[in-house]
Amino acid sequence: MSESYRKWIEQKKLKLQAIDCYSVGVTPEGLAQQLGVDTSKIVKLNFNENLFIDRSRQTSLIKQIADEIDLRMYPEDEIPKLVKKLVEYLKVPQDCIVIGNAGDELLDRIIRLFVEKGDVAVSFAPSFVIPQLCVKRQEGEYVTLPLKNDFQLDVPAMLTTFSEKTRLLYLCSPNNPTSNQMKPEDIETLAKAFPGIVILDEAYIEFADYSFVQRICEFPNMIILRTFSKAFGLAMLRLGYAIANPELINILTKKAPLPYPVSGFTIQMGIKMLENIDIMQTAVAALKAEREKLIKELNQIEGVQAFDSQSDFVLLNTKLPADLMYEKLLKRGVMLKKWGKLLQYENCFRVTVGLPEINAKLIESLKQISEE
Ligand SMILES: Cc1ncc(COP(=O)(O)O)c(C=O)c1O
Repeated sequence: MSESYRKWIEQKKLKLQAIDCYSVGVTPEGLAQQLGVDTSKIVKLNFNENLFIDRSRQTSLIKQIADEIDLRMYPEDEIPKLVKKLVEYLKVPQDCIVIGNAGDELLDRIIRLFVEKGDVAVSFAPSFVIPQLCVKRQEGEYVTLPLKNDFQLDVPAMLTTFSEKTRLLYLCSPNNPTSNQMKPEDIETLAKAFPGIVILDEAYIEFADYSFVQRICEFPNMIILRTFSKAFGLAMLRLGYAIANPELINILTKKAPLPYPVSGFTIQMGIKMLENIDIMQTAVAALKAEREKLIKELNQIEGVQAFDSQSDFVLLNTKLPADLMYEKLLKRGVMLKKWGKLLQYENCFRVTVGLPEINAKLIESLKQISEE
């Protein structure tokens, strides 16, 4: 190994150390091993996955695709077919849609293309963390303002941050982790005043009340982000899309450096799920009913406060310190996403709305802990 290589790689490693990356933490198998139990005993409610989707119907779609596609070929004609289905679903023109390798890749693509070293991105806190990681990797600055105590946008405060240097505004609605939608008039005010690209992240929109998709023509600087990971239950396949005016879509399509960012199998599965849209609709209706029941039951537990939700997860605040509660839950095989302090609430957790039998285990564990 040459001295020059050794020197260079050491410097590189030092520089790369400064880049923050997302860490998934303990996995269900890892936790099951630690506890000495079978993985099926783990109550996994930390990633907002949608288990209300009818798995047997999804499996039969997979089998259909296996018969229809030829994995030896590159996916040349698949994307336009998915776009056509999305046009029917969203009622927007086809040149307003771009397909990506799930929401995360599209966020990364948008930020790589539009944020440069020294640019400033604005968002609110608490919110989804990936945009911040991507902006920092671009050597941009990420400025966040706290949400108001009712989890809504502090519009006057955000407006004061806008300048010639602010080139990205990230708005998540429904917001992860607070789970509420932002007021449409606030999104409109911010988007119209912002001198750069506005990402409106609608990853959880099918569980909520309204979308900005139909109004996309009013906002030439807005990119609406969507995913198949949540309502459509395709988290494992990694499929997402964005909606924007054709000028921005053209950039996002033509300036993506890789010719086939999404696998043909994945695209076909997106098409099948849109052709059988009742699978998603039935799942979302069941999840929403279970969500209301779960919130009620959580609020009946001593020392637990659950907030209203417009997503497939619920935000909780507990009387017990978050670290202690987290450990106690993990010991019982229950995985939640720990947030800790969030605005005026000290000990917050994000909890996926699971199937009734899974939620019952969560409720049981929380009750036991509150009685200890
Ligand atoms: C707000 C929000 N946006 C985007 C994503 C990205 O999801 P995916 O990459 O699975 O499409 C997530 C995932 O949890 C999310 O919570």
